[in-house]
This record gives sequence, C-alpha cells and structure tokens, in this order.
Amino acid sequence: MARLAIIGTGYVGLTTGACFAHLGHDVVCADVDADKVARLQAGEVPIVEDRLDKLVGEGLDDGRLSFVVGAAAAVADCEFAFLCVPTPQDEDGSADLSYIEAASAEIGPVLPAESIVVNKSTVPVGSTRVVERVLGRADVTVVSNPEFLREGSAVRDFLHPDRIVIGCEDRAAAVRVLALYLGTTAPTLVTDPASAETIKYAANAFLATKLSFANAIAAVCEGVGADVEDVMLGLGYDHRIGAEFLRPGPGWGGSCFPKDTRALVRIAADGGYDFGLLDGVIAVNEEQFTRVVDKVRAAVGGDLADRTVAVWGLTFKAGTDDLRESPSLAVVHRLLAEGASVRAHDPTVASVADLPADLGEVAVGGDPLEACRGADVLVVLTEWDVFRWQDPAAVGEAMTAPALVDARNLLDRARWERHGFVHQGIGR
Ligand SMILES: NC(=O)c1ccc[n+]([C@@H]2O[C@H](COP(=O)([O-])OP(=O)(O)OC[C@H]3O[C@@H](n4cnc5c(N)ncnc54)[C@H](O)[C@@H]3O)[C@@H](O)[C@H]2O)c1
Repeated sequence: MARLAIIGTGYVGLTTGACFAHLGHDVVCADVDADKVARLQAGEVPIVEDRLDKLVGEGLDDGRLSFVVGAAAAVADCEFAFLCVPTPQDEDGSADLSYIEAASAEIGPVLPAESIVVNKSTVPVGSTRVVERVLGRADVTVVSNPEFLREGSAVRDFLHPDRIVIGCEDRAAAVRVLALYLGTTAPTLVTDPASAETIKYAANAFLATKLSFANAIAAVCEGVGADVEDVMLGLGYDHRIGAEFLRPGPGWGGSCFPKDTRALVRIAADGGYDFGLLDGVIAVNEEQFTRVVDKVRAAVGGDLADRTVAVWGLTFKAGTDDLRESPSLAVVHRLLAEGASVRAHDPTVASVADLPADLGEVAVGGDPLEACRGADVLVVLTEWDVFRWQDPAAVGEAMTAPALVDARNLLDRARWERHGFVHQGIGR
C-alpha cells in the first residue's frame, strides 16, 4: 500500500482521497480552505455526493485518511502527490493554470526524492511540462491521469471507471501509478502526456456534442410534430450511437463542460485548427436556455413582466449540490431580466444565501409546493426524482393558472394534463 497526498479536496480531490483510502492506501488530503479542512477532520462532508460521507468516515476511523491545511504539509512523507485543484476558464476561454502552478510551486521544494506527481485536474496539452518546470525537480516524475468521474455518482465512477488513462513517457512510473488502482477493474491505457490530456477534453466535448445534438433534434421534433423521447429511444438502440447523453433538456452546464469545451476550441485554435463543430455545439447550448425562456413566456401569454414563475431545480443536474454554470441559473437569470419574479425549490439549496449574489431576488421555498404558491407558471429545470411524485391537484390549487413547462420531460404528461395542466415539454 502506498502513501498518497491529495492536493485539493473538492469534488475530485475528496472523492480521490476517500476512494484511495478505501482501496487501502494511506492518504493525506490538503486544502487551502481551513474551514473545509476542519469540517472534514470532524467527518463532515461539505458536498452532496452519494456514499462519500460513508467512505470519509471509514477512512478517518481506520486512520488511513487525514486532512491538513496546505499542500506542503501533506506531501512531506508521500510517494505520490495528486493535483486536484481547479482549472477555471480564463478571460480568453483558455484554462487558467494558476492553481496548478501555485500548488506545484508549493510542493516542489518539499517533495520526497523519487516521488511521483500525478495530475488529475483537467489541463491543456503541455501542462505536464508546465508542472515539471514549476516543480524544478529532476528526480520527480510528473504523470497525467485525467479524471472522468461524474458528480452525483463520483464514488461509483472512481471505483468502477470505464477506463484509467495514464500519460507518461516513463513506463515504470506509469505502472506504479496504475498499481494504485488495484481493486478497481477497468481497461487501462498508457500513452504520452499530450494524448492523455487530449482524451479528457475530447471526451467532455463529445458528451456535450451529444447533448446539444439531442436538443437540436428536439427543436426539429417540435417543428415536424415528432416526439423526441421516441426519436432518442430509436437512436440510442443503435450500438454505434449508444443511449446515454441523448436526453434533451434545458441545456448542459456544470463545472466542466462549459469551460472544457471553450478550452478545447482555444487549444485547437492554438494548434492551427478552427473547431467550428464545437463552436456550434456551444451555440446550440446557449440557444437552448433562450428556447426554454420562450416557452415560459408563451405559457403566461407572451409577457413575463410582473409574472411569478415557480422553478423546480437549481443545480446543474440531480444528485449534486453543484450550482456552477447550472442551466437552471442561466434560465432564471433570463426570467429575472424580463421582469418575472422567481420562486424556486431545490432539494440541496436551503436558502437564497446558497445562490450566487446576483440571484438575490429569487425566493427559495422549503418544498416544491411552497415554491408554487401564487405562481403563474411552473418550470421544471433539474431532474430531481422528488418532483416526479408531486400531486398535480395540490400544485394546481397553489398556482394562479395550471401552466407547466417541463424542460426535463420529467413529469408524466398525461397525469398532469388530466389535472388540467397545459403541459409543454422539450421536443414533443
Ligand atoms: N467536478 C467534476 O465533476 C470533475 C470531473 C473531472 C475532472 N474535474 C477537474 O478536476 C479539477 C478539480 O475540480 P473540482 O470540481 O474538484 O474543483 P473544486 O473547486 O470542487 O475543488 C478544488 C479544491 O482545490 C482547493 N485548492 C485550490 N488551490 C489549492 C492549493 N494550492 N492547495 C490545496 N488546495 C487547493 C480549493 O480550495 C478546492 O477545495 C478541475 O480541473 C476539473 O476540471 C472535475
């Protein structure tokens, strides 16, 4: 079993640390956020992620998992240091490497001899070399090991990945990193760092493309009177296409797809290729937010000013509390800009204080029904199961009119129509 340091305890770092401890390694996780570290030391997991609290508790109890403030404090005795810090979007669309550089500069002088630095953050091609340069350590090997976990099923994805990708010219170091994953079963791919880094961007861009494609076909379905749900079923049975990521919705978002697609457009341009296809995928997504608002406006008779909109769901998808780049928030912004009042409910958002500051006008209700009181229209923006089972009769009574825009095609249309609702979905 190996001694690991994990730098950054966000969605990726905390999952990585807890899962590696579960696999039997000794893991020290570091963060710059002292409050977060204190909560984690007490076994309190600050994010919503299935099974993560159980694994963190197990690691703390077994003494295999600990938390410290500051990267330097974590790496002093490690064999492997995993970089799991943010790579946000820079002003020009490229990935901002300043967190990677800061963490590398911090650990460079204190890393034990012959240790391996593993980069799990999503970084542009060439970043392995950047880390090597900033570390300034000829005896330390840098390995690219992109992470593919999905928020909401991060623990399952880490322990049962579709594949493990290692990018490193030094095969012995690559094998040492692969050995850490013993206990998981997955195809493994050892390649050069540039290819490993490109695989991660290509995967996210392809998934975003599937979603934008589904939304574009939904628009076609609306124009020709087809039902996108059946169309996607018919499409997904084709093994060459696959059924996943073909669900139409209010647009894609989250902490990865928006920044990673824009970063890949930029990486391509820097490499001399105009990635018009991906530009189109991003444009279709922006249009989708507007298309949802168009439906809500139409549902209240053509003008949103002084109308009250009930919103079900604020996170970018169900199963997470992550609001970063949520399509829900993009839609809510547009509703507010047109003069609507918004009353929202999300199972993981307790109060308006949890929302970005520019959404301060949104009322956050304690339950789905509460959000509907006095509303002129209800719009479903996140696919939380709890919304599926709400009583249409009670919701209809709470609202001024039975108007419904289901941007996730989540609710049973026939059931809601039986209760008098005018139901508008996506692509049907
Ligand atoms: N969130 C996902 O679903 C996901 C999936 C795959 C890959 N990624 C990639 O993984 C990386 C991390 O993403 P995330 O969502 O976990 O980010 P996050 O913002 O949730 O967490 C990052 C953490 O790093 C900490 N941090 C920043 N600088 C630090 C430093 N110098 N030392 C110690 N801690 C530091 C922050 O305080 C924060 O807690 C990004 O590159 C992202 O693109 C994310």
